[in-house]
Amino acid sequence: MLALYPGTFDPITNGHLDVLARAAPLVETLEVTVAVNAEKKTLFTANERVALIRTCVDDIGLTNVTVATFEGLIADYARQRGATALVRGLRQVSDFDYEFRMAFANRRLNPALETLYLMTGEDHAMISSSIVRDVHRWGGDVGLFVPPPVVEALRRKSTS
Ligand code: COA
Repeated sequence: MLALYPGTFDPITNGHLDVLARAAPLVETLEVTVAVNAEKKTLFTANERVALIRTCVDDIGLTNVTVATFEGLIADYARQRGATALVRGLRQVSDFDYEFRMAFANRRLNPALETLYLMTGEDHAMISSSIVRDVHRWGGDVGLFVPPPVVEALRRKSTS
């Protein structure tokens, strides 16, 4: 069984890694599916985001996790890849509304695709990639929210 964990991952955070570590043992292969054509203007390029995810996943020893990019509708991409599930993390009540709408749209677009929701650890409930980028921009300690390779990548961004 192939499941996809889609997102922008700009950058990957400890919260995303927490979801990955919970989901990976439940499926044969878990693909972190990086959106390259999202409406969001990203700090990291798609290649940079993929490389960072690969490093972080290897660092925590998840051997059945792959990383790829996608454009367009996730429902179509899942069909092309033969994936039967999407993994989504739930952090707080405010995530539900968006997730409901996305799940129903994806179900219409690809009825063979099921969405699996995993609760993030409570330590990660308030993290998002934009909070990380904000904390970094103002010189705060991003090491509280992201793993060392991402801390280093953010540092390089601000000096380049
Ligand atoms: N830990 C930490 N942060 C998390 C998190 C977790 N467990 N789960 C989500 N987040 C953060 C994300 O980093 C993101 O942060 P940001 O908005 O500050 O950048 C925010 O919470 C929202 O996450 P998410 O809902 O996963 O948005 P996303 O932009 O990362 O990914 C796509 C959204 C790409 C999966 C979705 O838009 C998509 O599938 N697009 C393709 C087009 C499509 O098919 N559209 C129809 C779907 S109905």
